[in-house]
Amino acid sequence: MTARPRVVVVGAMPAVGIELLRRRADVDAGGIRPEPGWLQAHVPGAAAIVADPGVPVDAALLDAAGPSLKVVANFAVGHDNIDLDAVRARGIRATNTPDVLTNATAELAITLMLSAARRVAEADALTRRGEWHEEEALLGRELAGATVGLVGFGRIARRVAELLSGFEVRLLFTARSHASAPPGAEQRELGDLLASSDFVSLHVPLTSETRHLIDASRLAQMKRGAVLVNTSRGGVIDTKALVHALRGGPLGAAGLDVYEDEPHVPRELRELPNTVLLPHIGSATGRTREAMARLCVENVFAVIEGREPPTPLV
Ligand code: DGY
Repeated sequence: MTARPRVVVVGAMPAVGIELLRRRADVDAGGIRPEPGWLQAHVPGAAAIVADPGVPVDAALLDAAGPSLKVVANFAVGHDNIDLDAVRARGIRATNTPDVLTNATAELAITLMLSAARRVAEADALTRRGEWHEEEALLGRELAGATVGLVGFGRIARRVAELLSGFEVRLLFTARSHASAPPGAEQRELGDLLASSDFVSLHVPLTSETRHLIDASRLAQMKRGAVLVNTSRGGVIDTKALVHALRGGPLGAAGLDVYEDEPHVPRELRELPNTVLLPHIGSATGRTREAMARLCVENVFAVIEGREPPTPLV
């Protein structure tokens, strides 16, 4: 009888995924945020590491796992937490969970656009305090008639564009090369998009080129009162510059699901009334998280059993 492989799991993988893994592997599950050093202590001899964007997977961790390691399976579409060069250099595989989370994340981006523009968090807090608004207070703005700029035009941005089709917006987007677009959407350079958009939503992966893509000079190009939404990665925005732009302009509001140093959310952002702040829940619906778990598990066993994984990165 062949020995069961061992899989080490850390991060947001739900119980359904752990159960599926347990059917065919021995599983060490460290939970969402295990004690520092837990992963390093449990990884030696593992055939697979299941991680999420909050779990750095670097060369040292891969080496700690040793020659048994066959796959790093990310429970996310983004993979900036994994050193893919180190994975490649060791001849192992890495996988992610694209497509299944596209709609949930796109819906959250629109939720943040509307919440920030209509001051939903501020209004909710006020109502909970037992207060009511003054006659002129809590005036927001509408999506209808606005120009929305999507920075990056991958799967999630395209779904945002589809969902926005009922909102009567003018749609602009940036893309690395000429991209096919829905009718009426216009491809622009980043500076032009920022200067023309009432709402800007970020949909680029975090890479060395996109780190602090939205810095002080880019924020200064934005329209006075514009709403900035980020469901991609916190590192795409320079947080200090963002705080400055939210305090003194030009930004009117920001809706953020991601931060530079998660789970730390800077006090300056928390203290501003014109921010809506979520704890990285872009893909967090029951349906989507279950689909991600199933895909992640398929990736793990495909590699362990010598088959091509459904959604490989490397
Ligand atoms: C992803 O899939 O990259 C998301 O950020 C995780 O919620």
